[in-house]
Amino acid sequence: MQKRRVKKAPVIILSLIIISIISLVVIILLPKNNIKKQNNENKTKNAVTKKVDNTNYDMKEGEEFISKTKTSMNLTKYNGAYYVDGIMIVNKSYALDSSYQPQDPYKEITNEYLYGPEYLDKTVMEKFLSMQKDASTLGYDLKISSGYRSYKVQVDLYNNYAARDGVDAADTYSARAGYSEHQSGLCFDLNGTNANFLETDTGKWVNEHAANYGFILRFPKNKEIETGYNYEAWHFRYVGEALAKKLYNNGDWISLESYLGVDSKYE
Ligand code: DAL
Ligand code: ZN
Repeated sequence: MQKRRVKKAPVIILSLIIISIISLVVIILLPKNNIKKQNNENKTKNAVTKKVDNTNYDMKEGEEFISKTKTSMNLTKYNGAYYVDGIMIVNKSYALDSSYQPQDPYKEITNEYLYGPEYLDKTVMEKFLSMQKDASTLGYDLKISSGYRSYKVQVDLYNNYAARDGVDAADTYSARAGYSEHQSGLCFDLNGTNANFLETDTGKWVNEHAANYGFILRFPKNKEIETGYNYEAWHFRYVGEALAKKLYNNGDWISLESYLGVDSKYE
């Protein structure tokens, strides 16, 4: 009997310690779990109302959420154009409406058949003029050989290439109407269409400095599968300085498609 009493005491003490620890754990963890649950409920509520769940991207009035991209950014549609986190995307997967025109052109667009640098988006044109001026002080001559091209102009251009080279070949270097970034007024071709442009002194300067003015090389070498087009040493697109500097990547340009997490393929 004496022996059994001696054995019971530690068991009771041990049980009390275990119960105390469990109680403490429950007291500490329960409110946290409740807060987590509450946060998750709030997140779901926000996702329903804003349709944008895990970034700080704020949609404009009338902007429609489409989906998340492969890089978890927000693909939206607004006023006839697609955007990823506010950056316009025009490629083989994302067409502009046929009626789309630059919203704030440098010079007023007066008919549906216009093309030329003066109808580029105003900011883009001003950034180009600033780059052109800085280049000229160093003796480099920059000229836009193709800027804004309306939907109707692109219809003729693409059809001529397709008639000359066939549709498959034309699709490697020319966009079908609606799918050309030139219709956006956010891009231009520089000094003709010379595949070796970036090896010239002028081209080298442009390649190294374009990002400081917000421009990216839109169709970099060896990125054809991503962009959907052959390398174009002459086609520059305005995306703003912060993003352009990221994509410059010390001269090894990252494609816009890869950064935004989107494809460029006709359906
Ligand atoms: N050359 C480019 C892909 C265009 O036609 O827009
Ligand atoms: Zn171009």
